[in-house]
Amino acid sequence: MANFSCNSPVNCDVEFDVKNIENKTAIVTGGANGLGEAYVRALVAAGATVVIADLDVDAGNKLEKELIHVKFIKCDTTSWDDQVHLFAAAASFSPTGRISFVVANAGIHRRDEVFAYSGDDKAPQKPDLTTIDVNLIGTLYTSKLASHYFIKQNGQKHSGSQEDTCLILIGSGAAFLDCPRAPQYCSTKWAMRGIMHSLRRTAFYYGSRVNVISPWYVKTNILSEEAFAHITSVGVHFAESSEAGQCLLRILSDKNINGRSFFISGKKWSTSGYLDLDIDDYQENSLVDSIQRDQVKSAPVELGLFT
Ligand SMILES: NC(=O)c1ccc[n+]([C@@H]2O[C@H](COP(=O)([O-])OP(=O)(O)OC[C@H]3O[C@@H](n4cnc5c(N)ncnc54)[C@H](O)[C@@H]3O)[C@@H](O)[C@H]2O)c1
Repeated sequence: MANFSCNSPVNCDVEFDVKNIENKTAIVTGGANGLGEAYVRALVAAGATVVIADLDVDAGNKLEKELIHVKFIKCDTTSWDDQVHLFAAAASFSPTGRISFVVANAGIHRRDEVFAYSGDDKAPQKPDLTTIDVNLIGTLYTSKLASHYFIKQNGQKHSGSQEDTCLILIGSGAAFLDCPRAPQYCSTKWAMRGIMHSLRRTAFYYGSRVNVISPWYVKTNILSEEAFAHITSVGVHFAESSEAGQCLLRILSDKNINGRSFFISGKKWSTSGYLDLDIDDYQENSLVDSIQRDQVKSAPVELGLFT
């Protein structure tokens, strides 16, 4: 991995080699169910050791029993202490002591009280912001700990001997599309791209990279059966969790993939079920490109990791 540069879209319709993933250790938050479980299964199939962090003890233990090289750690990602324990336990469980890949997947979707109207005769009610706690604050804790371990393992000076590491942030269609009546969930998912944009230019100092996976609708526990039935009834085609697993492997397999947003599109929009959205650079827009160049003038990448 070298200094950041805007690349052309990653080809997601190619065979790829998972050699870069074999014998590496990964953490998947929210890995006991749904899409997280699919990331775990894909990583194990590619020969990785995986630590699952989740609130769901029954499902986590079940996966640990079923799969090889997997450890379940009970963890509430909104708790800093839980996550500190998680990363320490993952490093101990790792056959090499290293943590190479971190998938910050734990996330929730609730009725959005930021939007809800209290009524003409009522004072506005303070909204429940739990979604921010899990989707954003929990992910920032995961991101900090991932960077900490990656820097500890690889140092702060870019060199050919650094071993590839990668942080994966989980967005959504709500990370780039208009989703009416869900400002809180959308703010947390756009935030995943914010974190990625902030880290992608300097990650190479510690031999690392950062990418976003944004799933389209996938039938999991995140929404009720009625909600998914409604989405089906209006003619929406779903994506599959296994496509998300393959997308993760595609990203991790190639050390040059950095700073990009992928969409788990399902087969409607791509043959493989996932694609590179190509929405994070402004090569066709000279105005934004010029503003971006001014933005980094006061905070040049050359100043290193910490200024
Ligand atoms: N399923 C979809 O249609 C869809 C679409 C776009 C984005 N996503 C995103 O994918 C991610 C996974 O969602 P999913 O659909 O698999 O949901 P899910 O509800 O099926 O699974 C989420 C998992 O996260 C765990 N979890 C929740 N809060 C946690 C916490 N505080 N600490 C630790 N674990 C916690 C749950 O126990 C569960 O195992 C989320 O970030 C979600 O926003 C899902």
